[in-house]
Amino acid sequence: PVERKLSGLWRNEQDSLMEISALADDGGFQGEYLTRVTLAGGCTRISPLRGAQQQPSEVAWPTFAFTVWWDTFSNATTAFAGQCFVDASGREMLSTTWMLREAVGSLEEDWKATRVGRNVFTRKRTPKG
Ligand code: BTN
Repeated sequence: PVERKLSGLWRNEQDSLMEISALADDGGFQGEYLTRVTLAGGCTRISPLRGAQQQPSEVAWPTFAFTVWWDTFSNATTAFAGQCFVDASGREMLSTTWMLREAVGSLEEDWKATRVGRNVFTRKRTPKG
């Protein structure tokens, strides 16, 4: 079924997984992110995320933003912003753009510290209950 909501398990084209919990009344949400790729190329751990949806879920397609803390294996931070859609084949997807801030050791390295990219997430399964 088409849920038109962010909660549930999602996978992106890099095979990263993201589970978003139920949305609060104010649009806030929390979740967990398991990235398949890292800057260092090393192993990863499940990382917490926090975000907010900007429209009530019944209205059109909600826009949202969230931040992931990679603390357990990296000093980097990623912020994602996007919108939920249903594609031509009826699959829900999250079209997002992200900025990844890497920690650098000095102001001279600041220019190279931020990457930008895109991720498309499709729903793996809907939450229970
Ligand atoms: C790090 O390697 O220091 C933190 C992990 C960064 C993973 C990035 S965030 C944007 C892109 N989308 C993913 O699912 N993973 C990478």
